[in-house]
Amino acid sequence: MREPAHDGLTFRTFRAGDESERMAGWYEAQSRGFHQGRTSDALRGHLEDHLVTDGATVRGVWLDRPVLGAGDIPVATYLSYDKTLNTGRGLQPARMISMVTVSPTHRRRGLLRRLITEDLADAVAQRVPLAVLTVSEGSIYGRFGFGPAVFKHSVGVDTGPRFSLRAHHDTGSVELLEPAEAWPAVAEVFERFHERTRGSVERPQFYETFLSGEFDFDSGPDLKLRTAVHLDADGAPDGYVAYRPGPSEDGMRTIRVTDLVTLSPAAYLSLWRFLADLDLSDLVEWDRAPVDDPLPWALADPFVVRVVRQRDALWVRVLDVPAALSARPWGRDGQVVLQVDDPLGHAAGRFRVVTGDGFAEVEPTEADADVVLDADVLGSLHLGGVRVEPLQRAGRISGSDDGLRTWAAMADTGPVPYCATGF
Ligand SMILES: CC(C)(COP(=O)(O)OP(=O)(O)OC[C@H]1O[C@@H](n2cnc3c(N)ncnc32)[C@H](O)[C@@H]1OP(=O)(O)O)[C@@H](O)C(=O)NCCC(=O)NCCS
Repeated sequence: MREPAHDGLTFRTFRAGDESERMAGWYEAQSRGFHQGRTSDALRGHLEDHLVTDGATVRGVWLDRPVLGAGDIPVATYLSYDKTLNTGRGLQPARMISMVTVSPTHRRRGLLRRLITEDLADAVAQRVPLAVLTVSEGSIYGRFGFGPAVFKHSVGVDTGPRFSLRAHHDTGSVELLEPAEAWPAVAEVFERFHERTRGSVERPQFYETFLSGEFDFDSGPDLKLRTAVHLDADGAPDGYVAYRPGPSEDGMRTIRVTDLVTLSPAAYLSLWRFLADLDLSDLVEWDRAPVDDPLPWALADPFVVRVVRQRDALWVRVLDVPAALSARPWGRDGQVVLQVDDPLGHAAGRFRVVTGDGFAEVEPTEADADVVLDADVLGSLHLGGVRVEPLQRAGRISGSDDGLRTWAAMADTGPVPYCATGF
């Protein structure tokens, strides 16, 4: 339905690679929206590779009548594509949403609402059970049924003399490689990590460009990126860290971790020892440390790891309740009637959830609800990274005492999810 506030605007939706004449302005608009610099031919070319390779759908809103030449750059951008999310019971299709911007001249007229409503309806039509995104502000996406589900820590690790690992025996080794040489090993390690890590999101194509050092997503090749690969005792890659020098602050020489992915605790700790052994650096910063990071527990002095802040790493939206809930792990056997309230309708209804041996059968029902929650809360619970009880104390879940106890025993399952992918 056309809103009066949208008069004079045209909403367009097309596959990446089509309507290429519109894309230069589209890239410029999203760059503006995130306060980045003007886009170069090289940047647009790399972004185009990503959008086309990932089969993205491009949405945008253009002025019907350009004012003083302000016509090529749309007043809103929105991108989505389908990849997989590890729900703890294998990989499930998920709609990934990104590059959402609305021009300051067209804020709060419902442009985002219309773009995301149309896209989620399309995901439902394509039988995609979940949608995921990352956010710039926490108050925007709850109303569309998204809840924060995976978290991460920004850490600063003092790699001076205080950095001392307790007994750490590793029969593997670490090799320092050029990022482009390391890329095949990096890609393979990530693929295996994605298959085994609850909360992991499959990586878009731009990770290759970024981690191979081909382009820094600003001006050119990334000349400062370094990659160390960990090899197991048989010489097979089972972890890597990509890092760059950071700005020195207060006389502290800093290394910034770009990406750190490992398949074993030994690889993880050995790569930390490698980082700590780097000369001409005093501090290693990483903004994607797991919230249940083993590193402090492996150090003689756990305070060497300073958690600077906790942030959300992934927001989840359940679109198809039976499909999504029957494709995640469950704790105790039990049954509840769950009522999901969802203003967009996709997850709305009452569902009988019966769990046994870690699996669930989920069917619509007319029975009275034992537990009532909103769609965004269901999203937050989906990966086991948020427990029922604090949500209950916050007034976000209601129901009978017995129903809530049973639901918590069913839904609160480990391991703590972790997402290594930004998008
Ligand atoms: C966030 C942004 C996309 C919102 O676009 P918009 O077209 O103004 O949003 P809408 O008018 O469709 O608003 C939809 C709803 O979200 C709310 N909303 C929008 N932006 C919000 C914000 N920053 N904080 C709180 N609520 C917000 C609106 O009040 C509205 O609520 P309602 O429909 O329930 O009444 C836009 O402000 C923007 O481009 N910001 C900078 C880039 C950015 O942050 N992108 C998001 C990256 S994930």
